[in-house]
Amino acid sequence: MRAPPELGSPAWPVPAAALVMGACGGPQSTLDPAGRDAEVIASLFWWMAAGAALIWLAVVGLTIHSARDRPKPHTHEEATLLIIVGGAVVPTVALAALLSHGLSLMRETLAPPPEGSLKIAVSGEQWWWRVRYLTPDGGSIELANEVRLPVGERVEFQLESPDVIHSFWIPSLGGKMDMIPGRRTRLALEATRTGLFQGVCAEYCGTSHALMKFSVVVLEKRDFIRWLDHQAEPARAPAQPLARRGQELFLRNGCSACHAVRGTPAAGVVGPDLTHVGGRRGLGAATLPNERDDFVRWLASTESLKPGVHMPAFGMLPAEELQALAAYLDGLE
Ligand code: CUA
Repeated sequence: MRAPPELGSPAWPVPAAALVMGACGGPQSTLDPAGRDAEVIASLFWWMAAGAALIWLAVVGLTIHSARDRPKPHTHEEATLLIIVGGAVVPTVALAALLSHGLSLMRETLAPPPEGSLKIAVSGEQWWWRVRYLTPDGGSIELANEVRLPVGERVEFQLESPDVIHSFWIPSLGGKMDMIPGRRTRLALEATRTGLFQGVCAEYCGTSHALMKFSVVVLEKRDFIRWLDHQAEPARAPAQPLARRGQELFLRNGCSACHAVRGTPAAGVVGPDLTHVGGRRGLGAATLPNERDDFVRWLASTESLKPGVHMPAFGMLPAEELQALAAYLDGLE
C-alpha cells in the first residue's frame, strides 16, 4: 500500500477534495439540482460559501498580520475602530444583505403554482408516505412511497400528517416543508430534467425516521400520463397458480383489513395501497428493493427491518405461503 501523501505536500488537497465532493452528486443532493427551486437554493449556498471563505481569509490574514508583523499592542483608537468596523459594521452589513437576498429568494420559491396545475396530496405516516394524485373530478389515485412527476411542469404538493410532524424533502428538486397534524401545508416544485431522485423525511418523527424515504421519478409528459393512467386502473387478476394462491392467503390472513388492492375485496385504509405495489421501485418506504425475495423478507420480519412499524411480521406462516404471498404482491405491477 502506498503511503498517504503528507499534509505538507501539494498533492493532499486532491484526495481530500475528492472525499468531500464525492457526496455532492447522486439522487439526493442539493448541490446537483434537478429542479428550479433547488437551483435557487444551490446558488444561495455557493454565494454563502464564497462569502464565508472571504471572511475566514480576512480573519486568518488579520491574525497572522497581528501575530507576525505587529506584535505590539494597538493604540486605543485603533482597537476601538477595529471593534466597531470588524465587530459591528461588517457583520451587520453582511447579515442584512444575506437576509434581504434570502427573503427575496423565499418569495420566488414559495410562489404558488399556476392555476390548473397538477396537485398531489402527500401524507406522512409512521413511517411511510401516502400519495394521492388529485383528479379534476374531485377524486384521487392513491399509491405509496413513490412520486412521479412530469418534467418542466410546476406541480403542487399538499402536505399533511395524521399524527406526528414530518418534513417532506426532495433535495434535488427544492426546499423542504413541514407536514403538521391538523394543517395542510403546500409546496410547489418544478423538475428541470428527467431522472431518478430520492425524497426523505427531514424532521425526526420517531424510531424509524431514517427508514422513511420515497422514490421520485421525473418523466417526459407523455410517459407520465401513461404511468398515471396505469396507476388509476384496478389490479390485474393473478394469472400464475402460485400468485392466485397468494391472493387467497392475502384475503384470508387479514391483510385486507389494512391494505387496499383496487379491483379486489381488499379495501383497508390503514396501510399503503398495494394495487400496483410490484411496479414500485422500493419496498417498506425504500427500506428494501422490490424483488420477490424482498417481499418474503418484508412479510416475515417487518419489525426487525423497520423498528416500530405498525405492520406485524408474518414469520409464523409456512415458507411456501410466504412465497405465494410474495408472488402475488410482486405481480401487482
Ligand atoms: Cu417522518 Cu421523520
